[in-house]
Amino acid sequence: MKIALAGTGSKLPSKVLTNDDLSKIVDTSDEWISQRTGIKKRHIIGENENLVSLAFAAGKEALESANIEGKDLGLIIVGTSTQDKRLPNTACELQPLLGAKDCACMDVSSACSGFIYALSIAYSMMNTLDIGYALVVGGDVLSREMDWTDRTTCVLFGDGVGAAVLKKADIEEGFLSFDIGADGSKGFALYDNSYGDDRYIRMDGQEVFKFTVRTVPHSIEQAIQKAGVHKDDIDLYLLHQANLRILEAVSKKLDIPLEKLPHNLERTGNTSAGSIPLLLDEVIKKGMAKKGDLILLCGFGAGLTWGTCVLRL
Ligand code: ACO
Repeated sequence: MKIALAGTGSKLPSKVLTNDDLSKIVDTSDEWISQRTGIKKRHIIGENENLVSLAFAAGKEALESANIEGKDLGLIIVGTSTQDKRLPNTACELQPLLGAKDCACMDVSSACSGFIYALSIAYSMMNTLDIGYALVVGGDVLSREMDWTDRTTCVLFGDGVGAAVLKKADIEEGFLSFDIGADGSKGFALYDNSYGDDRYIRMDGQEVFKFTVRTVPHSIEQAIQKAGVHKDDIDLYLLHQANLRILEAVSKKLDIPLEKLPHNLERTGNTSAGSIPLLLDEVIKKGMAKKGDLILLCGFGAGLTWGTCVLRL
């Protein structure tokens, strides 16, 4: 038995903030943000929205797309660094909302790599605990953690959540490999000091950029090698949507056509753990990824952490 992707869903919050809107709050411009990042707008939560409400909508859609009900789930994992509350965890809050019962529930905090970390844990737990269906959610509401007077960070991020249902199936492929890692010595490059004097996210953008361009191609190569495939066999590379320049640099370094790296960051901003499942859901809904395609997912972010996996849809 292998582990396969059975369905996906996603939810962006209702409120939209364009680069022009931001230029009224901080000293920035659409030109600066577009040129350095590719981002044009992002969604942020409104009054009646939070991580759980977005995760519920995304999770419900993923269950429907997998054609199962909440009661079929043996596991719910949420990759997030921005829980609505510390206790109970987000997955436990989702469980009754989705009609699931008694299943294992946990959150995983690995920033923008959170969805891939959560997938790898779900993959392992489904095998060791003989779980038939798992719901893996990735998402963040970073707008709550932003210093809206700091132009070096607030222009980059958006809120959003994506979800995937994994199933145990009598197939030959499904998830083929994972490459997961972290370099805690680089934690200073992106952090928030929630319990200290400064509760907002702070970042050394150039350090993050250097790390990404060095580490991401290596992780991608590792995952491809472990999967026993060739880079040209991969139909789509779905990379964390931090920045268009990062996607261009990775595409160049690995000699992969940029067309194989779809992006939606211009519409979503960097949604942290939400970015990969949001993009995965989008390419499936648009018919850009179909059954039988070979897909690579790669996340990277605070920690600094990274995670890549290869799967046959
Ligand atoms: N608008 C206008 N000017 C700005 C803005 C802004 N929003 N932000 C910074 N500047 C200014 C700076 O103050 C600086 O001005 P100065 O020269 O007068 O001092 C100038 O622009 C250049 O600043 P840099 O930080 O050197 O700009 P850089 O070219 O490095 O671009 C960026 C910044 C886009 C953040 C880049 O470093 C980057 O892409 N880093 C990757 C970080 C990232 O993607 N983080 C997301 C979270 S981590 C993750 O998801 C992987």
